[in-house]
Amino acid sequence: MNISIIGSGYVGLVSGTCFAEMGNQVICVDNSPEKLQKLLNAEVTIYEPGLDILFSRNIEKKRLSFTGDLKEAVLNTDIIFLCLPTPQGEDGSADLQYVLGVAGDIGRIMKESKNDSYKIIVNKSTVPVGTAQFVAAEVKKSGYINFDIVSNPEFLREGFAVEDFMKPDRIVIGAENKRAIEIMKELYEPFVRQGNPIIEMNTASSEVTKYAANSYLAMRITYMNELANFCEIVGADVDLVRRGMGTDTRIGKRFLFAGIGYGGSCFPKDVNALIKTSTEKGAEMSLLTVVDKVNKAQKLVLVKKVLKHFGGDIKGKHFAVWGLAFKPNTDDMREAPSVVIIKELLRLGATVTAYDPAAMETAKFYLNDTIVYAENEKAALKNADALIIVTEWNEFRNPDFDLIKSSLKNPIIFDGRNIFQLDKMKELEITYYSIGR
Ligand SMILES: NC(=O)c1ccc[n+]([C@@H]2O[C@H](COP(=O)([O-])OP(=O)(O)OC[C@H]3O[C@@H](n4cnc5c(N)ncnc54)[C@H](O)[C@@H]3O)[C@@H](O)[C@H]2O)c1
Repeated sequence: MNISIIGSGYVGLVSGTCFAEMGNQVICVDNSPEKLQKLLNAEVTIYEPGLDILFSRNIEKKRLSFTGDLKEAVLNTDIIFLCLPTPQGEDGSADLQYVLGVAGDIGRIMKESKNDSYKIIVNKSTVPVGTAQFVAAEVKKSGYINFDIVSNPEFLREGFAVEDFMKPDRIVIGAENKRAIEIMKELYEPFVRQGNPIIEMNTASSEVTKYAANSYLAMRITYMNELANFCEIVGADVDLVRRGMGTDTRIGKRFLFAGIGYGGSCFPKDVNALIKTSTEKGAEMSLLTVVDKVNKAQKLVLVKKVLKHFGGDIKGKHFAVWGLAFKPNTDDMREAPSVVIIKELLRLGATVTAYDPAAMETAKFYLNDTIVYAENEKAALKNADALIIVTEWNEFRNPDFDLIKSSLKNPIIFDGRNIFQLDKMKELEITYYSIGR
């Protein structure tokens, strides 16, 4: 099939590459000149395990190409995927300006080219319920009407994006028209050969499904974080509680790890967008208002532990921070707890040297030169008053503890991700603070 992908960021680049890998002809569009130049030079623009091999292979096979020209892409393809940003607006709602802007452009391109061929316009961006109709109306303003709108939310996880896209748990297709659904099913058939379902529904249900899934996961994490704070007070260990409850098949094991709050480009904005839409429609999801509030507070839990340890004053103290990305295996820093934690440490008069295996460059955009960026995790430790672990990269899980002890001024670790065993820390005579244990 001939596919265009409008917006070649995390979702667009992964989707485009994986569609090409299945033999489709894919053209990706982006309006950021720097990003486009890199893509045209066959450079992958995001850190995503496994993406580079597929990316290079499909460029070489001439199944994957890039352009800044929306017209070229729209006129030469039958299925147009919108993978555009839907950031949080000032009032908490999803900002649809990019999605609706491109929808209008598509209509005008078709009309001005006097091209009346049938197109499917697929919304892969996360958008509030009702957006399919807004997109359709925007396209139709031009007079071009031979198209269908499909809502096809994306569920990939950064860090596992290729794996998730190639072997999805399910594909959700929302459309009001059978013809569009059949074409979409044909496109996705190679991805679900193991029998995972393609679930058909109307566009409203499909749009709600994406927010429902993300908000539910955010709520699970938040529940465990609140539970962790309670466990600490009553002498329980949240990790043991997690195992005790997660083995119940009604509950399940995943997304039950306590930590320092969720971040990233999706959960925070999607929770807020659902609060906003549900309130507007007169069915406020008040549970989510609490989730957002608790999550914001959780990002500062580790700083509170640091302050308490140092008697309420950390002025002049120096900290090593391991991990900056909002989670491992990505360089994404959007809404990362690290930014909140580091800014608070600096505000309280401390200094920071940080290391992250992938997110150092992106981090500079958020933290500028307010901190020192170390060459590796060992270099970050030198002369620090304590080590603070913010992101649970695998390479931090089994470190050289002797080196940690000899590099730090005091053998103290504040671990926001519970990556070490309590017994082992005791044995090593490391003062160890974690979450909910
Ligand atoms: N990142 C994720 O893990 C993830 C997962 C599922 C769903 N989503 C959703 O997918 C959507 C895209 O997210 P993302 O993380 O890929 O965003 P992103 O910011 O990484 O990528 C968006 C891209 O669109 C480009 N762009 C903006 N305006 C454009 C225009 N007019 N023409 C062409 N290109 C344009 C930007 O330059 C950017 O490269 C969002 O709605 C997000 O909520 C994201």
